[in-house]
Amino acid sequence: VERVTIPVLQRWKEEGRRIAMTTAYDAVTARIADPIVDVILVGDSVGNVCLGFDDTLPVSMAMMNHHLEAVVRAKPRALLVADMPFLSFHLSPAETIRNAGGFLQRGADAVKLEGGAKRIEMVRALIDCEIPVMGHLGLTPQSVNVMGGFKVQGRKADDALRLLDDAHRLQEAGCFALVLEGIPAELGERATESLRIPTIGIGAGPGCSGQVLVFHDVLGLTEGHRPKFVRAYANGFQSLQEALSRWAADVRNGAFPTSQESYRLPEGLRDTVAN
Ligand code: KIV
Ligand code: NA
Repeated sequence: VERVTIPVLQRWKEEGRRIAMTTAYDAVTARIADPIVDVILVGDSVGNVCLGFDDTLPVSMAMMNHHLEAVVRAKPRALLVADMPFLSFHLSPAETIRNAGGFLQRGADAVKLEGGAKRIEMVRALIDCEIPVMGHLGLTPQSVNVMGGFKVQGRKADDALRLLDDAHRLQEAGCFALVLEGIPAELGERATESLRIPTIGIGAGPGCSGQVLVFHDVLGLTEGHRPKFVRAYANGFQSLQEALSRWAADVRNGAFPTSQESYRLPEGLRDTVAN
């Protein structure tokens, strides 16, 4: 199987071929997603999507490694990106390199980290060690406390200009792509046309080089408030519950299992057991 690589993504941007990226958190979601998408992200969104946290801040390197290892066992052909969790790339270049390098040693192809100018030193340190970095700007969920909630970013002139400046600094530092999250469509489009590297939007309008959505959001597996940028292509939660409730009903009324779904003793032994 042909693997998706960083030069391939760069070529697709130049050809205007849009990139589809989703998340996976274990071998099952990776096997479902891999034949379909170009990039798989083991996102720190695992914290709210799978682990029941309210935000991504409690997600640790140990949790990320655990989920990354499960995804790697599915041997994806898509480009596999591992998300650096809160505090894993803030303390020192050495610790940042150790954490990101650990992702690559476990089978990731690249890492992603949130932030602009303030993180450039860490981005450079990683790229100096041959660790490919995907940037992430705009509504960066690890900054929820600073933003005062999950709010659209870049709506004021200075914020919009800072985002474009951050995007160019990340590109110059050597990032191979940028996630743009929760920003006005005009800003997503402007960043995409002014950058050489591909942009992957989520709530950043149709003008990006590609789009990313959380796996569970695309499939309608998440309950509760759905942000405007989510389009669910299945009622996963409801359809899975319907299937499960048909099975539970069959258990209760004796329709499951049938004799075809059961094992039998060899002919000669049946009497022995019966008596
Ligand atoms: O953690 C995540 O799922 C993400 C994507 C939504 C970009 O960072
Ligand atoms: Na993330």
